Amino acid sequence: MYYIGIDLGTSAVKLLLMDAEGKVEKIVSKEYPLMFPKPGWAEQNPIDWWKQSVLGLKELTAEIDKSEIGGISFGGQMHGLVILDEKDQVIRPAILWNDGRTIEETDFLNQEIGRDKLSQWTGNIAFAGFTAPKILWLKKHEPENFNRIRKIMLPKDYLAYRLTGVFSTDYSDASGMLLLDVKNKCWSKEMMEICGVRQEWLPKLYESYEMTGTLREDVAKELGFPSTCKVAAGAGDNAAAAVGTGTVGTGKCNISLGTSGTLFITSDVFQVDEKNALHSFDHADGNYHLMGCMLCAASCNKWWMEDILHTKEYQEEQKDIENLGENQVYFLPYLMGERSPHNDPNARGAFIGMSLATQRGDMLQAVLEGVAYGLRDSLEVARKQGVAPKTTTICGGGAKSLLWRKIVANILNMDVSTVMVEEGPAYGGAILAAVADGRYESVSQAANQIVKIKDTVSPEKDLVEKYERGYEKYRELYPALKNFMGHM
Ligand code: XUL
Repeated sequence: MYYIGIDLGTSAVKLLLMDAEGKVEKIVSKEYPLMFPKPGWAEQNPIDWWKQSVLGLKELTAEIDKSEIGGISFGGQMHGLVILDEKDQVIRPAILWNDGRTIEETDFLNQEIGRDKLSQWTGNIAFAGFTAPKILWLKKHEPENFNRIRKIMLPKDYLAYRLTGVFSTDYSDASGMLLLDVKNKCWSKEMMEICGVRQEWLPKLYESYEMTGTLREDVAKELGFPSTCKVAAGAGDNAAAAVGTGTVGTGKCNISLGTSGTLFITSDVFQVDEKNALHSFDHADGNYHLMGCMLCAASCNKWWMEDILHTKEYQEEQKDIENLGENQVYFLPYLMGERSPHNDPNARGAFIGMSLATQRGDMLQAVLEGVAYGLRDSLEVARKQGVAPKTTTICGGGAKSLLWRKIVANILNMDVSTVMVEEGPAYGGAILAAVADGRYESVSQAANQIVKIKDTVSPEKDLVEKYERGYEKYRELYPALKNFMGHM
């Protein structure tokens, strides 16, 4: 049997074909445009996701016996608002997780409705990228579009709907809508009322590893797949990546260095930090997790390398960086505003501390370190909560760099391990499909059996000490500069 994981990302959809034992047979990636209609806005067309996924599925399975395809599932970019009308037509481009247009709506929710109530109803407060503030924005700024809404869904759920005709979502992804009572796993009546959302506009909720349906006849025919092929609800990309890196159960940690940067800590009990700085979400294994999310992680490096230095020679550019812990230059990675822990869509990037002696490599090193310090900010919140993992896995494009892993290991003072299969969310998606098909008893059993550690970078005492001093400086920079950001 084969299982397919679809990672619906922000720059591309990645599709992974796995056999029942977890061996990866093939990986295909298809890109689509990302639109920035105004500074701080980010949109994509769900039809592009669908078209590229269909192309990808065909290419992925071109050489295999398709009757052996047992299941499909997903890891999807979270929080995006996808809306359909009564004819199931997409009403407008999806507003994405890293879109910061909802400052007013987020303030309204956090200040007028109140953080305490939001936290009591959903387990979380409002962040600009979450779905509920986007719905409020739409209601105010595009009432004609709001009035046409008959279905509200998350990005991966649009793919699932086109594949199966079943209007579904899963708890991990729904957690990021600010419409779900995360602890009790049901839609929040209070939040629906505040947003003017009817319950029938929201998808049916499933565990990530539950089957929601099988392929529609026409889709099965077009793809050449059996119409008995099962589709499982899937997960938000971070929860799926956690499954794909074996981060299941309790007290385990995974870092994703992708377009966004996340620190994901599993828990078998629901918990919320004092200031709701971290997200308290459901996990794809049926448990919970805490998560800090940076809006720009590997994308800071991409911006610096490709847009500023005009090079794609990532390894070459990093090869002479040696003075770890001694860089005088600091970088604040807030190129799209910041989610965790600052919750400030107006935050912006900054380089600080250059002199005439500063070299190109120091600037790049500052970028890599700035992202790691940003992750440390989230880890500090968790540590204050008494949650202190000592080891973590790491995935995402940025994790390919040994130098960056070393910086992360020393700034976080944690063992940082890569796993054999690097495609976290897509691999996690395929594992969820295999569980839904009954190949494994549970997500934990599947992940523990399938996922293998590749290599580990351990922190070094002297570097940890140096970076500790660096972090003390770094953490003073945002409060000092905050008032100069975004409003000039
Ligand atoms: C998590 C988040 C991002 C996206 C990236 O809260 O917003 O990690 O899921 O695709």
